Amino acid sequence: MKKIILLVAVIWMSTTIHSQKQQVFSIIPQPVSIVPGTGVFTLPSKISIITGKDKNLIKIQQLLSTQISSATGKQVINVAADKTASSKSISLFIVSDNTIAKEGYRLKVTTTGISLTANEPAGIFYGVQTLLQLFPKEIESKSAVRGNTNWAIPVVTIEDHPRFGWRGLMLDVSRHFFTVAQVKDYIDQMVKYKFNLLHLHLTDDQGWRLQIKSLPRLTEVGAWRVERTGTFGTLSKPQPGEKATYGGFYTQEDIKELVKYAADRYVNILPEIDVPGHNLAALASYPELSCTPGEYYVSPGDRFMIWPGGGQHFYGTLDNTICPANEYAYEFLDKVFTEVAQLFPFGYIHMGGDETARNFWEKSEQIKALMQKEKLKDLDEVQSYFVKRVEKIINSKGKKMIGWDEILDGGLAPNAAVMSWRGMKGGIEAAKQGHEVVMSPTDFAYIDYMQGDGVIEPPVYATLRLKKAYQFDPAPEGIDVSLVKGGQANLWTEQVYNMRHAQYMTWPRGFAIAEALWSPKAKRDPIAIGWNDFATRVEKHFERLDAAQVKYAPSMYDAIVEVSKKDTATIIVKLSTEIEGLSIHYSFDNSFPDNFYPAYREPLTMPRDAAAMKLITYRNNKPIGRMMVLPITELRKRAGIK
Ligand code: ACM
Repeated sequence: MKKIILLVAVIWMSTTIHSQKQQVFSIIPQPVSIVPGTGVFTLPSKISIITGKDKNLIKIQQLLSTQISSATGKQVINVAADKTASSKSISLFIVSDNTIAKEGYRLKVTTTGISLTANEPAGIFYGVQTLLQLFPKEIESKSAVRGNTNWAIPVVTIEDHPRFGWRGLMLDVSRHFFTVAQVKDYIDQMVKYKFNLLHLHLTDDQGWRLQIKSLPRLTEVGAWRVERTGTFGTLSKPQPGEKATYGGFYTQEDIKELVKYAADRYVNILPEIDVPGHNLAALASYPELSCTPGEYYVSPGDRFMIWPGGGQHFYGTLDNTICPANEYAYEFLDKVFTEVAQLFPFGYIHMGGDETARNFWEKSEQIKALMQKEKLKDLDEVQSYFVKRVEKIINSKGKKMIGWDEILDGGLAPNAAVMSWRGMKGGIEAAKQGHEVVMSPTDFAYIDYMQGDGVIEPPVYATLRLKKAYQFDPAPEGIDVSLVKGGQANLWTEQVYNMRHAQYMTWPRGFAIAEALWSPKAKRDPIAIGWNDFATRVEKHFERLDAAQVKYAPSMYDAIVEVSKKDTATIIVKLSTEIEGLSIHYSFDNSFPDNFYPAYREPLTMPRDAAAMKLITYRNNKPIGRMMVLPITELRKRAGIK
């Protein structure tokens, strides 16, 4: 009996210690190793940050000291010294230590000081991000926090390095334009979670956003469209004589500034010039790029593309493609990529290649002549011919080419890397052919999708919940892991009109993607257990985002609704939640439910004459989710009842 009591006590203590640890160390992405100690380091009234003379480290030192002094109001002194020595200080030093992996770091907090070491500045930068997450959440404040925050940091040793080297977020700046200041802000947020790549989708039907000096009309014309607000794909076309007033573009000076800002934060910028499809903005500027020259306009989000579904190719009612049979197209692209290569130091250029509507090519005499001349048997091969020529141009500028997985169709260009978005299969296939791969599948990494139920989220055609994003593994079974460079989440902005909403769409799913890309696989397995721990940390980071005044989606607190039918006309509703510990309360009588209303326990039968179901989640007797209203018409539709 005594033994049993002892065993129970040991289990109780170890789970308590475990949960205390989790409470103290809510780090995202989860580090490789955390060894907690006892006690805390409390920031003195005057803090020294010590580093040597390495100018990269001095930049990191300045970033850290600015953040500490702005949030704490304390005096921070940057010291250049060869050795850490002084107590009550934070030291940042490059060492030569083969136990620290690439981009990795070792962070030691003791009661007398903090020491951060790495083999390279990037490691120090990531260590600083971890260190900031050990501070109280108020460190995220942009101005000095009033009141008496206890600036205590728990004693700990953390050793860490990333699982993948390509940890990206894609921001579509074509569908909606984001200013240089906004993009810098986005970079500031992403680096907190150790992302190191910002993919800018710079061109599309809705706007060309990059100054190309040799092709001035691209931004004089292509960067501007008539202004519309509403649902993408249903917006009205430009009216006769209507002025194009919405838009903007980055000058080459803007890009240099952004590239430098990103580089100072260990972020590469990957530029995407999407060809041959998605090109109304370029065609409005230079119609001669098309197989069907004529009048073109920059699309405000009107419906000019039809998706027939069932795996068939979609087609345009307007030709939005650059013509592969047109030599001028290659001269144009040579000019574009010459300037792009000069502006962006990153080793890769993205050429898009996705979703090319080819119905106009089918009827083009020019394309027919090209097929005969080059012995191309179908339009896949025509597109592949185009992609291969684009690759030659990009390679001639000293860059590697990457494209969306459609570039596999008709045969991959010899040196191309593939960004797999239509699931992982394109990536797996490309790796089988020996090509580099970046994974960004819709099923886990499309953060333009809704993160919860369409009755409460701004409508988009698909859903990707946080819990699903958390299950992302960029290196699935059966793939040569050495060819997987990493992965990224993609934020398409057809429905994202402003930066606040871009933040809402990015966080918290960006946390899940960051963790999938950085943290060891073993730490995340089994996913079911990892999820609960992750969700707890997410909540801690919501508090940090609040302090930083960054918007995020609270969707993980809302109910999940599954609707089916019994017999032919009875609606059955099954409810669940994404995270544990919530109760769901409901009404069928049109009133607003609260925690005095029935709590959901088992599938519900919709009363015969009810007009709507209303739902809300509670935790500890406080509302936590948002009120959801499902009208009977919506429930019937979901149940398949006419
Ligand atoms: C894509 O989402 N069309 C790459």
